Amino acid sequence: MAKNLVIYYSRRGQNYFGGDIRDIAKGNTEYCVEYIKNAVGADVFEVETVKAYSKDYMTCTEEAKAETKSKIRPELKRVLESVSEYDNIFVCGPCWWGTFPCAVLGQLERLDWSGKRVFGLMTHEGSGLGRSETDLKRICQGAMVGRCLAVLGSHASQSEAEVSGWARQCVER
Ligand SMILES: Cc1cc2nc3c(=O)[nH]c(=O)nc-3n(C[C@H](O)[C@H](O)[C@H](O)COP(=O)(O)O)c2cc1C
Repeated sequence: MAKNLVIYYSRRGQNYFGGDIRDIAKGNTEYCVEYIKNAVGADVFEVETVKAYSKDYMTCTEEAKAETKSKIRPELKRVLESVSEYDNIFVCGPCWWGTFPCAVLGQLERLDWSGKRVFGLMTHEGSGLGRSETDLKRICQGAMVGRCLAVLGSHASQSEAEVSGWARQCVER
């Protein structure tokens, strides 16, 4: 039986919903992670930074912009050292300036990806997958990067059927 893992980042606090800024208790990507877990069964690793990003939306976008520009790899609360016991790895996160947050990229860069199957899911507000698929292929050397899925973040809580269907297809051999 194949073993599945989800590596994800999701930010609670203020977020942008098609023109409005709202305070959310559960991040958009978090909904998708639940759908994957329910659909195919998976262990879950949450990427969390030691220094939290600002809860204020605009301040957070500036913090993330500076990090992305300088290719910073923020310190993580816990580091996942290995994915050796898994067959399928879902990498899920928000689009931040066109790709996964630097914290996620930093975590991915620490792992040995040989022989793994990797699937990206990105929640976004218009950029779709952005550069995330290209970044996964570059970082996850030796892995097969399969079909990635872009989910509109403001619709994440209504995207269970789409995300579950995609996740089931990903793990089919
Ligand atoms: C720092 C930051 C940068 C963002 N950059 C983009 C972007 O470049 N393109 C885009 O479509 N959405 C962007 N967004 C919107 C998020 O990708 C979107 O709201 C996502 O669903 C948030 O997921 P989360 O709640 O799981 O963190 C950005 C949001 C933040 C906070």
